[in-house]
Amino acid sequence: MSTSERQGSFTADIEAIRQRARQHIENGAVTEAYRGNRETVIKVLNEALATELVCVLRYKRHHYAATGIHAQAVADEFLEHAKEEQDHADMIAERITQLGGDPDFNPETLAKRSHSEYVEGKNLSDMIREDLVAERIAIESYSEIIRYLGDNDPTSRRVMEEILAKEEEHAEDLKTLIQTLSQAEEKMRQEPSPEWPLRRAS
Ligand SMILES: [Fe+2]
Ligand SMILES: [Fe+2]
Repeated sequence: MSTSERQGSFTADIEAIRQRARQHIENGAVTEAYRGNRETVIKVLNEALATELVCVLRYKRHHYAATGIHAQAVADEFLEHAKEEQDHADMIAERITQLGGDPDFNPETLAKRSHSEYVEGKNLSDMIREDLVAERIAIESYSEIIRYLGDNDPTSRRVMEEILAKEEEHAEDLKTLIQTLSQAEEKMRQEPSPEWPLRRAS
């Protein structure tokens, strides 16, 4: 009994796979089994890359611009998100390269290619709200990308699924921050204290 018979529906012809792997070795990770439309996948991943890079810049800006009595905890959260968005950008750029594409880091067209926007925000709660909007945009567009990739490019899909899970965590963090901030502000109105625990170290 052959391996393929023992495993039921798995009928891959290992010899043919071995031969095909030797052809076009310049394509690296992209083999005949790749079912995606490579050009479209690279384009879509480049849009996700632009989205991540804009998110890095927006969170960095918010990290340094966060001021006010409740700023320290929020600024720390912005910095953590900025680092994680940078990790996402790196994961996507690496996958684009594996697919034989060029990761697009061109700053001139970055904002136009990004799904989410770069909004500076007027104050702390405005910044958090803008970040939550950006996360929600990323969640929706990455979900679309994952559906588009389907079974045609499982590796790119896994990369995007991992990133999507993190964006959902970010959105949840920001929702909690909005609630904590409004409770803290309410408490401050009722009993103002100079030693407020969220005060930014100066
Ligand atoms: Fe991200
Ligand atoms: Fe995020």
